[in-house]
Amino acid sequence: MPPQVVEAMQRPMVPHRGPEFSEFYIALIERLKRLHRTEAEVLLWPGSGSAGWEIAAVNLLEPGDVVVAGVTGDFGDRFALVASTFGADVRRVELEWGNAIVPERLDAALRAAPGAKAVLLTHNETSTAVTNPLAELTAVAQEHGALVLVDAVSSAGGIPIEFDAWDVDYLFSGSQKAWMCPPGVAIVVAGRRAWERTRETGTHRFFWDMDRNLEMTKKGWTPTTPPISLLYALDAATAMIEEEGLEAVFDRHRRLGDMTRAGLGQLGLRLLADDAYASNTVTAFFPPDGVEARTIIDRMASEFGITLAGGQAHLASSLIRIGHMGWVDDEDIESCLTALNDVLESV
Ligand SMILES: Cc1ncc(COP(=O)(O)O)c(C=O)c1O
Repeated sequence: MPPQVVEAMQRPMVPHRGPEFSEFYIALIERLKRLHRTEAEVLLWPGSGSAGWEIAAVNLLEPGDVVVAGVTGDFGDRFALVASTFGADVRRVELEWGNAIVPERLDAALRAAPGAKAVLLTHNETSTAVTNPLAELTAVAQEHGALVLVDAVSSAGGIPIEFDAWDVDYLFSGSQKAWMCPPGVAIVVAGRRAWERTRETGTHRFFWDMDRNLEMTKKGWTPTTPPISLLYALDAATAMIEEEGLEAVFDRHRRLGDMTRAGLGQLGLRLLADDAYASNTVTAFFPPDGVEARTIIDRMASEFGITLAGGQAHLASSLIRIGHMGWVDDEDIESCLTALNDVLESV
């Protein structure tokens, strides 16, 4: 996290029902709208990114609703699981890990699921380091009259999202990734069709009720006690993003993604993601033949203090991931690649 974000969390508490808080909160919500390029409603909850799946399921879906889920990895799988847990009739489009869901594939799935109420998409599949083509997929879903519900946990704030121009209906993220904050705030954006849908669904909901949250947000309040220190962090981080400029932030992520992929290629390492859809916030690669992913991850940590992640699900022990989202610059990637080179020379 940037020092400014750490510092912001030291600010004294204020009463969350006082004028100082509501003024602060309204300004934060307005900034988050600008950063999502939207005039739609932005809502915050105390919670991790996973809250976004459940908020979608309890507000926008009803048991029995036909839903098409693009499953491009572990997080797409969980989105589908949450929807089916709440009773939706989920039709999964399963992609081999490393591949994106392309518009033709979604179109075929929607043709096979007439009357589908929603499409579940993972913008950036963190488990495979793939970015799905959200603008094109949204257009396909809209043609079929299905709501577009998007997990943007590892894309928002790092990879372009045009909520209004692309006509997305619902999109969520968590504070801890490209937003450069500690975990703990779930960020939801909901457009007109999503609000219409909340008024049709008769599901039970309270803590995650979008309408209750909106009613309070409009007054500068939160429905429950907010995580004030984390909101201060989010305020400082998003101010930094605006200061750098959203386009500049996206360009930096593009550059870091290119640098990481090129560097790993030079080290002779094989990447998981289809190059055409490679993510600019995370890169996944396989260790050289005969070398355990865990050995590399452990040595990077113990010898260089660099934390890499392993894979997930069936690739848990065979994949390595480098996160390059948020407060990361060229030097971080260069030192990571240099350290990796050293480790590879002696494994
Ligand atoms: C794409 C994606 N979706 C959802 C989640 C779940 O978010 P959280 O762990 O904050 O609940 C993650 C977490 O890494 C993620 O990367």
